[in-house]
Amino acid sequence: MLTAMTTAQRPHPGVDLTDVELFRNGFPHAAFTRMRQEVPVSWLPLEQTSFPLGDDRGCWVLTSHADVQAVNRDADRFTAYDGPSIADVPAMKGAMLASLDGAAHTRLRRLVSAGFTPRMIALLEEQARRWATSIIDSAVDRGSCELVSEVAYRLPMHMIADIVGIPVADRDWLFTLANRFIQSGTNDGDTPEGHFAAQFEMFEYAQSLGREKRANPADDVWTLLTTVEVETDAGERTTLTEAELDMFFLLLTVAGSETTRNAIAGGVHALVEHPDQMAAMRSIVASGGGIQAPAMRTAVDEILRWTSPVAYFARRANTDVEVAGQTIGAGERVTLWYPSANRDDSVFDRPFEFDLMRTPNHHVSFGGGGPHYCLGANLAKMEIALFFDEFCRRVRDVEALEAPTFTPLTLLNPIMLAMTEYPVSLSAA
Ligand code: HEM
Repeated sequence: MLTAMTTAQRPHPGVDLTDVELFRNGFPHAAFTRMRQEVPVSWLPLEQTSFPLGDDRGCWVLTSHADVQAVNRDADRFTAYDGPSIADVPAMKGAMLASLDGAAHTRLRRLVSAGFTPRMIALLEEQARRWATSIIDSAVDRGSCELVSEVAYRLPMHMIADIVGIPVADRDWLFTLANRFIQSGTNDGDTPEGHFAAQFEMFEYAQSLGREKRANPADDVWTLLTTVEVETDAGERTTLTEAELDMFFLLLTVAGSETTRNAIAGGVHALVEHPDQMAAMRSIVASGGGIQAPAMRTAVDEILRWTSPVAYFARRANTDVEVAGQTIGAGERVTLWYPSANRDDSVFDRPFEFDLMRTPNHHVSFGGGGPHYCLGANLAKMEIALFFDEFCRRVRDVEALEAPTFTPLTLLNPIMLAMTEYPVSLSAA
């Protein structure tokens, strides 16, 4: 249900965020800065585009840190029911962790959150180190590599697959599908049919893996989710439906791999571009404090702020709400732009400086807080710290052979931007 206000009366962002060319070389930070200064809360009319928006005529674009954080934390007035993307996907509404509200969300999140606490993640550290060393060593042995697919992608892929319980032999095939799922329907990539075909194959795989786990239970998240009973609002006990499991599988495999890959690849790129910060990272590692040392945690936060691996998450207003003096009408879609909030100079000194010592660093790369705050934040931070720890120990020099390329994923995909290729040469330490 929309309010009577017409789009003509509303502040326009002044840039067309549906234009993939804008994202060809990374996030359009100059445009975001202008929006934060001139129209921090603006209306992006999408009714004349080919975006499948259902009844929506467009969406609000929030670019300031304060507004992104406030809406993220206000789960009463902003529902997550329609899912993270502005796409109208009926199958996703209220059907996955990221699209549930209130008690139903809490129940489902509690089921899996025990697997992602700092204590549980610390138990995975040695396993992650083994993956990181073998991935980095094999790239160093070759002398050069395509950093995104051959290095950055592989650690998050193996870690989320270990946690979910996906056999090693299936991983390259499955995560190529996950990649196709998120990159299809872009100007550069596959067609929308490719997107749905990849999704269908992933669902089929999830179901066959579920059958395998029920027959041979293991200590992993997929055994847990395919066998556990949950309580409905009516107090009845039931297992998760096939559709709920399909969506959970998609969420864990995509959220667990595509995002952290962007952070690792973007982190290497930032360090190569800022040799003083590469030297700073090397001295953090040489100081021997390990991945839990405060200096390493600070550095990881800056890599997360700088790379902002997720572009936006969407919500819908439950009621008329005023945000920064602008009335958002009941029923309207709202998008929260994390890369923009992470460069907001009212929160960050010198926001366009990449500074591994930055403290405090209240970045919103995992969301601005609230009940949907990234479930995998501890895991992602451990993977990033461990990757750079091993990278500094094993690699003496890294040089870009070409500038990185990016795939803009269109506004329908909340990740929206993937570093696609970054050829580098590496020499052993
Ligand atoms: C650098 C890596 C990552 C970034 C930047 C990131 C970012 C985000 C963001 C922005 C949200 C939405 C927060 C909100 O709506 O308030 C989110 C949610 C989520 N993330 Fe991550 N994520 C990362 C890694 C991971 C990993 C490794 C996993 C693996 C389990 C994961 C699983 C999830 C899930 C399941 C949700 C939905 C949580 C809920 O709705 O309760 N993420 N993430």
